[in-house]
Amino acid sequence: MAKIVVLISGNGSNLQAIIDSTETGKIAGDVVAVISNKSSAFGLQRASNHNIATHIVDHTQYDSRESYDAELANTIEQYKPDVVVLAGFMRILTAGFVDQFTGRLINIHPSLLPKYQGLNTHQRAIDAGDTEHGCSVHYVNEQLDGGPVILQAKVPVFEDDTADTLAERVHVQEHMIYPLVVKWLCEKRLRLQSDGVYLDDLLLPEQGYA
Ligand code: GAR
Repeated sequence: MAKIVVLISGNGSNLQAIIDSTETGKIAGDVVAVISNKSSAFGLQRASNHNIATHIVDHTQYDSRESYDAELANTIEQYKPDVVVLAGFMRILTAGFVDQFTGRLINIHPSLLPKYQGLNTHQRAIDAGDTEHGCSVHYVNEQLDGGPVILQAKVPVFEDDTADTLAERVHVQEHMIYPLVVKWLCEKRLRLQSDGVYLDDLLLPEQGYA
């Protein structure tokens, strides 16, 4: 079984979707630890509910990004994970950290990257008059919400949408595409090459994702 470590800062609904997919066997892996930079993150409770180890690595206790990321990397590495998943982990990571986990470090972002990196993506899509919006799962590099995109899902933007209604529509998609990409990584079917991202083999209905 592949070992998955998930980093969070908040609610953890994507974490929950991934845990659920491991427990139903859709993902051939286990979430072995959940790490948060905030002790108040509800996702820590979600992890405890499933008897998953939790750690708080509080960024306010470190005086540099480098020292914080070094401690974060140590905490992660003790689990020797195959996959490191950022699921609403709201911190910019140093190049050293990203290098250490290249090829096994992924993030989900609530926009159709490269559009709307950073915060308030739903309101920005509405303000721009976009008719479609969505979410992206990508390999992480040292740029904020940067790195090669693996999979995206699109949703329509309706005229009466608020940031909340649009976020809700995007979340439904996040909870489908993130477990799917984690599944591919656990099966070692994704390859990050200098010329792009490759998925080996066709998706078959009997694999649960027709
Ligand atoms: C998700 O919408 C995710 O795309 C976003 O944070 C939310 C976390 O929700 N991530 C980013 O904005 C990263 N730049 P969750 O805690 O319920 O999974």
